[in-house]
Amino acid sequence: MSRCFVTRDLPGRALDRLRAEHEVDVWPDRFPPPRERLIESARSAQGLLCMLTDPIDADLIAACPDLRAISNYAVGVDNVDVAAATARAIPVGNTPGVLTEATGDLTLALMLASLRRLPEGEAAVRTGEWLTWEPAFLLGSDLHRATVLLVGGGRIGQAVARRLRGFGARVVVAGRDDPLDALLPEADVVSLHCPLTEKTRGLIGADELKAMKPTAVLVNTARGPIVDTAALEHALRAGEIAGAALDVTDPEPLPADHPLLTAPGALVVPHMGSATQAAREAMADLAVDNLLAGLRGEPMPQSVNPGAPS
Ligand code: GLV
Ligand code: GLV
Repeated sequence: MSRCFVTRDLPGRALDRLRAEHEVDVWPDRFPPPRERLIESARSAQGLLCMLTDPIDADLIAACPDLRAISNYAVGVDNVDVAAATARAIPVGNTPGVLTEATGDLTLALMLASLRRLPEGEAAVRTGEWLTWEPAFLLGSDLHRATVLLVGGGRIGQAVARRLRGFGARVVVAGRDDPLDALLPEADVVSLHCPLTEKTRGLIGADELKAMKPTAVLVNTARGPIVDTAALEHALRAGEIAGAALDVTDPEPLPADHPLLTAPGALVVPHMGSATQAAREAMADLAVDNLLAGLRGEPMPQSVNPGAPS
């Protein structure tokens, strides 16, 4: 039996399977454990099941001499210093696949909401601005026949591409090494599906936003810091692009009084790409399976450093 620290309670019954084999300490709060408490609880643990809100950096890993397995409850692992874990031969699990379709669905919801100006329409109804039917009220842009540039052609990018073909959009995929300069001016929608790495941090900045069409919209369901927030706010206010639909932001959470929220065409939702009951339960199952395997010294079903001997 090992000791496991789980940094938040999870939907479904997956944690029961962990409790059946190990001593499990679950952080009970709505908010993530503050760093001191995270270190205090992880210090004596062999297994750590963490969230994207927990920075698992080299110092934390060094402070946990018994740690044998890290399981991140997310597909993105930018919150984990994977190199530091690998150097200690600690496998790092993640949850790809099980959240792909849910995130693909939310991406399409954001695309359509932004192109067709749903937040403005909904607000107009509530504030009494819906006075009559008007030929030129709230005109947006079409998704059918639009050129959609997907930055990142992994699982989620492919799931979005599949959906877009059904909508009659033209899909262009930019892979890891494809320069964006030639592709941005052609796109009616730019949707981000790459991981956050040192290479993609700030990938969409002032120059990239200027290169986009003034009628185009930006969609981000990947990670906030891929987009330069100040540059995005400026581009929306200056009319350089028509809209930005964001599931992820920098900073995250975005404070309710952040100036980006009042920029024209901004639509922000609170990092809910995988937030369906089924997807979050499947993520919990996979995260627990990863942790159980790692603690047994077996290969995790999904790991980002499968070479790390465990
Ligand atoms: C969520 O953002 C994830 O990476 O799973
Ligand atoms: C994530 O699962 C991706 O590969 O896009």
